[in-house]
Formats: sequence, C-alpha cells, structure tokens
Amino acid sequence: MTLMLSSQRPFAQGGNRLCFVHPKHPDRCVKVRRPDFSLEARRRKKGFPKNLKPLSSFDDNLEEFHVMQQLEQQFGMPIFNLISRCYGFEDTDMGRGLTSELIRDHSGHISHTLKQYLWDHDHTEDSQHAVNTFCNQWIDLGVPSRDLLLHNIVAQRNHKGLIVRLVLIDGLGNQNILPMWLQPLTLRRNKARRKTENLRERIEALVNQRGADTFPGFHGQLFHEGVEDKDHEQ
Ligand SMILES: Nc1ncnc2c1ncn2[C@@H]1O[C@H](COP(=O)(O)OP(=O)(O)O)[C@@H](O)[C@H]1O
Ligand SMILES: [Mg+2]
Repeated sequence: MTLMLSSQRPFAQGGNRLCFVHPKHPDRCVKVRRPDFSLEARRRKKGFPKNLKPLSSFDDNLEEFHVMQQLEQQFGMPIFNLISRCYGFEDTDMGRGLTSELIRDHSGHISHTLKQYLWDHDHTEDSQHAVNTFCNQWIDLGVPSRDLLLHNIVAQRNHKGLIVRLVLIDGLGNQNILPMWLQPLTLRRNKARRKTENLRERIEALVNQRGADTFPGFHGQLFHEGVEDKDHEQ
C-alpha cells in the first residue's frame, strides 16, 4: 500500500532527503528524496567526471539500504546500538521511501542531533561520556563509514535528560574497493579510529563557536510541529 506523505509535514530534512514519521509506525521514520533536489540535479551538480556515473549511484536511500544489509550480516545485533535499524523500502506518494528506526527520547520527542545538543548544552560530562562510549564501540567493531558528522548523529535521552545512546542515522557506506569482510580487523579499526578522531575535532570546533548568535548551518535541526523539545532546554 502506498504511504501518503505529501500531506504530512516532515520532521526534518537533510541535504538530500526529507524525513517523515511513518504514518503507521510512530517508532519508524520514512526518508524520501527531496522533491526540490532530484537525482538528476544532484548528478549535474557533481560535474565531470562524476556526472558520468549512473543515476542510481547518487541515490542515498539505495546505498544506505545495501550498506545496512552488509553491516547486519557482518556484525549482527550489536551494530543496532550504534546505528538506526533499517526496515527496507515502502512505496510513498513521494517516491520510494526507506524506513528505519526513529530515535525518540524517553519523553517521546524525536531525539535531537548531537550538533543541536552541543549547541544548546555545551560538551557536558554526560555528552563526553556518551561520545567516549560511542567511539570505543565504533573502533572495537571497526565499523566502515564516511565521516561522522554531528548532524548525522542523534542523542537519545532518558527521563532525566541524560544521553543514553548516540546513534548514527546517516553517512554509512564506504568508498572502499575491498568489501568489508576482506579487510583485516586491524585495518578497519585504524580507519574507524581516524573517523572518531575527526568527530572529536568537529565537536571541539562547534563548541568553540558557541556563543555566536545563530546555529551554524541549518542541518541537524528539527522543524516538525510539536517536537521542539522545550523541556530539555534550560
Ligand atoms: N532515525 C532518525 N531518528 C531521529 N532523527 C532522525 C533520524 N533520521 C534522520 N533524522 C533527522 O533528520 C535529519 C536529516 O536526516 P538525514 O538522514 O541525515 O538526511 P540526509 O540524507 O538528507 O542528510 C537528521 O539531521 C536528523 O535530525
Ligand atoms: Mg544527513
């Protein structure tokens, strides 16, 4: 059955996709391509020689789906502590949508990105602990990924507002020529370690910008009605 999304308000958008709460499963989200930024437009923007690649190679949803399947095969359940679980594709009135676990706080509000959290609260003892836990597990498993960006990680919080889990919701996939299972664990761990080091640098850079008037860039902020998490904002 086709999910009707166009009459709903998305709760967030990234550079490429619009994110909706799944109309039938409040604990899932559906991501569709942004209608104002088609695959053709994305390919055109890349310029030569990348624009020679097939259209499907510019489809984040498709890539994410394949990578998720590989990760599930390789790591089993423990990986879903670190990344949002993917449930596959469903047809929508805005094209094919990829469904995945929607990360919500204990309050029921959709979790804020790590970027938003750091902006609102600084790098607290709580977030430092959560980042350390996330990074250690990331390195331990040797998860292949692109850069770990602050607006692609969400901070799930408990009833006290404390972070219980950091979850990567976008940016999986790797440009490696070798499939993951052919790469020795030490190599994978070294790469994962570098990604986490870069993540820590990004955190520091953002925290140093705190105090400026406006949130840097628009990515990573929620705009769904009712999800602005006022009770967490002190
Ligand atoms: N599973 C999720 N749980 C909670 N919030 C999410 C989830 N997926 C996406 N978001 C929110 O939507 C924003 C955009 O989603 P994202 O998948 O990063 O889109 P894009 O691929 O266009 O960058 C994220 O920055 C985050 O705020
Ligand atoms: Mg994103």
